[in-house]
Amino acid sequence: MKYIVSTGALLKVKTDWLVVAVSSGKTLNGLDGLEASSQKMIEEVLATGDLKEKAGSTLVLRLVPGLQAKRLMLVSTGKKDQLSEKEFRSFHTAVLAGLRGSAAKSATISLAGVAVDGRSTDWLCKQMVLNSEYVDYQYDTTKQQPAGPALRQITFVAEARKQLNAATAAVAQAQAIGKGVAFARELGNLPGNICTPNFLAKSARELARKSPKLTVKIVDEKEMRLLKMGSFLSVSAGSAEPAKMIIFEYKGAPKAQKPHALVGKGVTFDSGGISIKAGGGMDEMKFDMCGAASVFGAMASLVELAPKMNVVGIVGAVENMPSSTATKPGDVVTSMSGKTIEVLNTDAEGRLVLCDLLTYVERFKPQSVIDIATLTGACVVALGGPATGMFANDDDLAEQLTASGEASGDRVWRMPLWDDYQDSLDTPFADIANVGGRAAGSITAACFLSRFAKEYRWAHLDIAGSAWISGGVKKGSTGRPVGLLVDYLLQQAD
Ligand code: BES
Ligand code: MN
Ligand code: ZN
Repeated sequence: MKYIVSTGALLKVKTDWLVVAVSSGKTLNGLDGLEASSQKMIEEVLATGDLKEKAGSTLVLRLVPGLQAKRLMLVSTGKKDQLSEKEFRSFHTAVLAGLRGSAAKSATISLAGVAVDGRSTDWLCKQMVLNSEYVDYQYDTTKQQPAGPALRQITFVAEARKQLNAATAAVAQAQAIGKGVAFARELGNLPGNICTPNFLAKSARELARKSPKLTVKIVDEKEMRLLKMGSFLSVSAGSAEPAKMIIFEYKGAPKAQKPHALVGKGVTFDSGGISIKAGGGMDEMKFDMCGAASVFGAMASLVELAPKMNVVGIVGAVENMPSSTATKPGDVVTSMSGKTIEVLNTDAEGRLVLCDLLTYVERFKPQSVIDIATLTGACVVALGGPATGMFANDDDLAEQLTASGEASGDRVWRMPLWDDYQDSLDTPFADIANVGGRAAGSITAACFLSRFAKEYRWAHLDIAGSAWISGGVKKGSTGRPVGLLVDYLLQQAD
């Protein structure tokens, strides 16, 4: 999609769709100078009450005399002058549904009368681009009929010239983030027989080819053995697909500047291994690499945005399968840190992958490390889809991520990492067990990771509930938390 920000009279705009806001069910915004007969006609249409006084209610008029636009969409902003963020989402969702339901190629959206509590015009533009990119992405890679969108161009008409620069920059930024989100969604949605660890490694190489600022290194199992990543390797032991560790380096600043690091769980399919999962809904464990996908997405956005900073992205790509060579419950493995781990449940594999990556990332002397993982079913129970579960060993980092979550609409909710929970990982047979009891499953998982993340400021994002929409026809990856991560990184670059 092409996006333009402009100002000027709406009457003369040649466009397939002109979208204008109607306040309080009757005040038409931005159509000053419309010829009297058309003005009267619209007033009479509004007087019918068909346009409800509810944000997102729409009414369509065609071939209105005095307008160059072919279609006019009247969209209600509701009863008040200011929309809440939720009302604004309803407003824009309705607009997009209207636009996409027609054969139109271009649309012009007037920002007159569209105001959100405490938010600027550039924020509005950014959200509209992110939303429209979100609905624009349709998964069709493994289908015979491609989705093929009709709409090609959206123009936002701002009320004042002085808003143009900031709004144009916001649109460009949102487009870059939208690209990253779509990339993450595509990787997430691809089936496990296509999106294997090797496929992720190839995709990483392809991405790195797009910019001289981005490099990638693929570490294979042989090299991982030399690194003594016994924990990570215990997860791939049962699979015919060899594991890969993927290391991105985005270099936008001098070498001396310490990087921020993202670490992603990339389990391309999680059968549970010998502790095999129940059958229902097991297909959704192809989404168990969504943490990795968010690292790919963030890297893709960075390539577009080119901020002056250094970022490392590490992905542990692996398939978790049962076989005669698979790790068994009770097996003890030695992690790269030297700590021994008793694998009491082979389905708690994400933490076995991440702990070695968290040790590996020390060599970059990172300013901050954020791991992203579809780690626990317990997190889905605790928070559902709206919030990503966040754990951190540093209050400032936690606050920054919370703020980025609010700013991007890709929210996190902090959970406790108190020492009181650590004891549940004690075992007579190793330094640490890979599972606690049934209680507080996402917290004990985070506790496990915290033992390997002592050398730097660290946060863990459990995206088990937020990374994809489960079940039904809406099933699919959300691309979260790419928006959050990019916002956080850009804040660090400022
Ligand atoms: N990938 C799963 C977590 C998951 C399950 C995410 C369902 C989203 C939906 C993870 O590897 C896993 O299996 N975790 C176990 C841990 C348990 C064995 C301690 C879980 O949550 O049941
Ligand atoms: Mn598992
Ligand atoms: Zn898993």
